[in-house]
Amino acid sequence: MNLQQLPKVELHLHLEGAAPPAFIRRLGQEKDVNLSGVFSEDGNYIFNDFVDFLRVYEAATEVLKSPDDFRRLIEAVLAESASHGVIYTEMFISPDFCGGADLGAWREYLHAMQDGAERAEVEHGIKMRGIVTCIRHMGPDQAKKAAHCAAETAGDWIVGFGMGGDENVGHQSDYAYSFDMAKEAGLRLTTHAGEWRGPQEVRDAIALGAERIGHGVRCASDPELVKELVARGTVLEVCPGSNVTLGVYPSLSEHPLHRLAEAGVAVTVSTDDPPFFHSTMTSEYEGLAKTFGWDEERFLELARTSANAAFCDVDTRAELLKRIDAQ
Ligand code: ADE
Ligand code: ZN
Repeated sequence: MNLQQLPKVELHLHLEGAAPPAFIRRLGQEKDVNLSGVFSEDGNYIFNDFVDFLRVYEAATEVLKSPDDFRRLIEAVLAESASHGVIYTEMFISPDFCGGADLGAWREYLHAMQDGAERAEVEHGIKMRGIVTCIRHMGPDQAKKAAHCAAETAGDWIVGFGMGGDENVGHQSDYAYSFDMAKEAGLRLTTHAGEWRGPQEVRDAIALGAERIGHGVRCASDPELVKELVARGTVLEVCPGSNVTLGVYPSLSEHPLHRLAEAGVAVTVSTDDPPFFHSTMTSEYEGLAKTFGWDEERFLELARTSANAAFCDVDTRAELLKRIDAQ
């Protein structure tokens, strides 16, 4: 079974979190940005725990200054994903890192990012759509600015609105204004929940209007909630490698992904921030094959579930399903 070549659909990938360390280091040198505390001696990102990971993540984004930096970054990230069989990616992109969530600046950055994605599609056959993301620990007022950027640029390419960042700060409901604004603009909703906090956080995400949940895995300790997720068809964007590296679960064999899938929850699999966790979509698949015995048919079913959960238009979805079924 050649897992690398199997067609894959990735729904949970943070643009800045996918930046190769060498890319960030080179830009840092070009722009003379101090990156101390970001890299280990062997050149990889270095962090101790989740909060430290967020610190390093944000420090690395300091080198991403111009729209052209984001164009180059998206092109590099999509080329890498395509080399692991990914045919479609929904990427979290953050106005906060693109000119401080100013709408005029955001439009310029967005234009450059779309250009990078178009080039990657022509060269590598991978499609991308964007999910504008606010950052929870920056607070509800800053989130409103990101939501405004999202609402004003909603369309065929910006298809969703979401929230990442530190789940231990505040409550999902603090961001209701932003999520309502995005929904009114026609955007589909996802939010990180149940990565660190328990089942109540997942319930709060549903109350916020999320159709998909970033991680959501901590629902597994609440059988009633699991039943509710199945009944609602709520999709979980599960990132096993991320969860194990950040210490949400001690090992893949103790991760609830397989149990949730067996219970009928619509699970999808993504990498989150691959170079931070030394992962790729291929390594995620290899882990699932080895630990849970997932085979080629199961991976193709996973890709179909992911394509059906994508926030893209119906024609794009049909094209993805055709590519998966051609396998
Ligand atoms: N931003 C990037 N990766 C994240 C994660 N795993 N959780 C929350 N916010 C993030
Ligand atoms: Zn994430």
